[in-house]
Amino acid sequence: MAITADHFKALVRRHMEGDDQGFYSVARQVAARAAREGKNIFAAELKELIESAGTQPAAQLRTVPIQQPRGELAGLMSVNYPDVTLSMMTLTRDVRTKLERVLTEQRTAHRLAEHGLDPIYRLLLMGPPGTGKSMSAAALAHELKLPLFTIQLDVLISKYMGETAAKLRLVFDTVAETRAVYLFDEFDALGAERTAGNDVGEARRVLNSFLQFLEHAAPTSLVVAATNHPQLLDKALNRRFDQVIAYELPDRSAAIDVLKSRLAQLDTRGVKWSEVAEQTGELSHAELVRAAEAAAKHVVLANRKRITTTALMNALRERRRLDNG
Ligand SMILES: Nc1ncnc2c1ncn2[C@@H]1O[C@H](COP(=O)(O)OP(=O)(O)O)[C@@H](O)[C@H]1O
Ligand SMILES: [Mg+2]
Repeated sequence: MAITADHFKALVRRHMEGDDQGFYSVARQVAARAAREGKNIFAAELKELIESAGTQPAAQLRTVPIQQPRGELAGLMSVNYPDVTLSMMTLTRDVRTKLERVLTEQRTAHRLAEHGLDPIYRLLLMGPPGTGKSMSAAALAHELKLPLFTIQLDVLISKYMGETAAKLRLVFDTVAETRAVYLFDEFDALGAERTAGNDVGEARRVLNSFLQFLEHAAPTSLVVAATNHPQLLDKALNRRFDQVIAYELPDRSAAIDVLKSRLAQLDTRGVKWSEVAEQTGELSHAELVRAAEAAAKHVVLANRKRITTTALMNALRERRRLDNG
């Protein structure tokens, strides 16, 4: 097979996202692969098609993406179809159980509905930066085969000072119309304390409207609010969500898990993990991923094949220095 299931899915996804360049780049990969496999006629025909596409007038006009927010919505949120899965993530048992629970209820929503029950559909994710809140929203979208809409609340508030509530209404209209995962990131931007210096009144109004919209939101979509600063939010807010999930910095064994996953495609047989574990400190999942990538680049650029304990420890130390600096 010159074209694999993954190529095919990637093509459809690029098309849905209106990503022409990405679409043709996957198509070129398929052609190259066919050529390597000796399927020369197919490879040549495909290449010819791809090249002729570049000269078609249609290629100069951008394809209108099917789901990309248009008109007034365009400045409010962005959409994508994430590729990440929950199994790629390092999560505590509590967080994983809660996320799986959401998936189970969402997948059996029709059965719950027969009994007048709604699935969990309003989530609050809280915890330090880089612990996987955004990635979890993406993974939920992927597992449920739904698009992910992201609304950056801090941007929304500063951009539409005075009319944020009206903009939020537009967003929640979409929540009702288009089944998807809606990630309201930087949710603490609605906390009065964060805006103490600025316009407290505006933040309060926006928070109140958000909570009203949330209360009446359609259970067909998944509304996910995420915050790095739960202390800026009133505790009473938690009650407004069906599920509250607390993310934590990884402990040593979770940290090693993150490093190993990121380096899975490289040779790590020589690594002394117990020594590495001593350097993981207070680094977040995101920072550990970066350290693993730095170590990997170091090894690749030195024309070596094996990840060494020293390379990893140095990369971790460097990350922690950045963290403290
Ligand atoms: N729990 C996790 N497991 C594996 N990788 C993670 C995890 N959390 C974060 N990462 C890595 O860090 C990146 C940024 O994480 P993100 O989800 O944006 O963090 P947050 O939204 O909590 O600030 C992710 O794209 C991923 O590469
Ligand atoms: Mg995030």
